[in-house]
Amino acid sequence: MAVDLLLGLQWGDEGKGKIVDVLTSNYNIIARFQGGPNAGHTLEFDGIKHVLRTIPSGIFHDKSINVIGNGVVIDPVVFVKELEGLDQFKIDYKKKLIISRKAHIILPTHRMLDAASETAKGKAKIGSTLKGIGPTYMDKTGRNGIRVGDLELADWKDKYRALANKHEAMIDFYNVQIEYDLEELETEFFEAVERLKELTFIDSEEYLYQAQKAGKTILAEGAQGSLLDIDFGTYPFVTSSNTTAAGACTGLGVAPNQIGDVYGIFKAYTTRVGSGPFPTELFDEIGADMARIGHEFGAVTGRARRCGWLDLVALKYACQVNGVTKLMMMKGDVLSGFKTLKICTSYTYKGETITHLPYNIEPENVEPIYSEFKGWKEDLTKMTDKSQFPKELNDYIAFLEKELEIPITVVSVGPDRKQTIFM
Ligand code: GDP
Ligand code: IMO
Ligand code: MG
Repeated sequence: MAVDLLLGLQWGDEGKGKIVDVLTSNYNIIARFQGGPNAGHTLEFDGIKHVLRTIPSGIFHDKSINVIGNGVVIDPVVFVKELEGLDQFKIDYKKKLIISRKAHIILPTHRMLDAASETAKGKAKIGSTLKGIGPTYMDKTGRNGIRVGDLELADWKDKYRALANKHEAMIDFYNVQIEYDLEELETEFFEAVERLKELTFIDSEEYLYQAQKAGKTILAEGAQGSLLDIDFGTYPFVTSSNTTAAGACTGLGVAPNQIGDVYGIFKAYTTRVGSGPFPTELFDEIGADMARIGHEFGAVTGRARRCGWLDLVALKYACQVNGVTKLMMMKGDVLSGFKTLKICTSYTYKGETITHLPYNIEPENVEPIYSEFKGWKEDLTKMTDKSQFPKELNDYIAFLEKELEIPITVVSVGPDRKQTIFM
């Protein structure tokens, strides 16, 4: 069986967690392929809201197996807190959750390095979630990292000590004020590692290969969004992994010719948290209304998300680099009541009109050009079928499908599992 992918097409927080949870009943295995606890994937059902960080969003379904792939970075401390959050739901995670031996471990000093680097950058900071993501991926590519499989070796603590000592010297080099008590952090870390070791570690590429051969259905879950991709995002204001479709191949060991559908998720508008360019950002009351109605606050850091109109130039680019086969539009309900809606269809760049994403999208380089649409007044949140959709929403959807040349197969009209309309 082919492996289907689900990933965000904007700057993250598109609603990936909700949709993975909705789709899980169609899949035997859900596998996270990159990112780490910088992610916050929200699921809502039966009046309960749950935010997952490293654990795949299929964990609440009885039958699905959840795999944390080699491309993911794991902070044992955050991970154990996540497990504890699941205890009240009586989830047998020792059976349902398995972890790649090749996934890298976030050390306490990685988090401190993240903080030191951001402080040293001052105004130019990335706006990182400060979970140690950048430094951990740096150690991975620098070939210094500690992997889950290392925790099974007798001498892993020696390797840990050497790396932590090096990190402390690096933190000193930054010469900035970072308050931390490493001894305390290490006690917590080593305890969490012992809990982590109670779970099953696997060679996940082999596991997924055999699962495919046996005809199991697999959905790969992305974190962050395509515009935060280390290669194709708004560098340097990006995360440190490949969030795009190719990242699923390297982050799980799935061959490119085994990829089936690529589900691309986007909000009916755009949000971004942290620093970096955002051409369609709104600084007026409309933007503030979107943030208020859409509850646009980060699931991980609680930071206010910046809001703006849908950017079709950026969305087309994301569909292109990912090979998206099916689109899913989230949070359409948030736009109810806006008199006029805008979609950016091109940019003015160096005096010319362009429809592709250029190298520089800083405000001084691009000016968005908009098409305007009449808004809808109807509350979408109680709708259960597309036949109930107002004409203006149908027009909005039809315009996007025509421009992107990809069908929109799901329209989400609220945070709950049930508020999902299949087209
Ligand atoms: P993720 O990181 O892509 O999983 O997205 P987040 O969970 O960080 O952010 C999405 C937020 O929007 C969460 O609070 C969801 O509960 C909420 N959400 C998801 N889909 C919808 C929707 O269609 N309408 C509304 N109003 N909220 C939604
Ligand atoms: P999910 O999976 C939104 C952003 C941060 C910052 C930049 C780098 O919930 O969609 P990092 O901590 O990775 O060094 O931060 O990326 N960022 C996210 N924004 N959703 C996320 O994940 C994000 N993960 C990282 O705000 O701008
Ligand atoms: Mg999120």
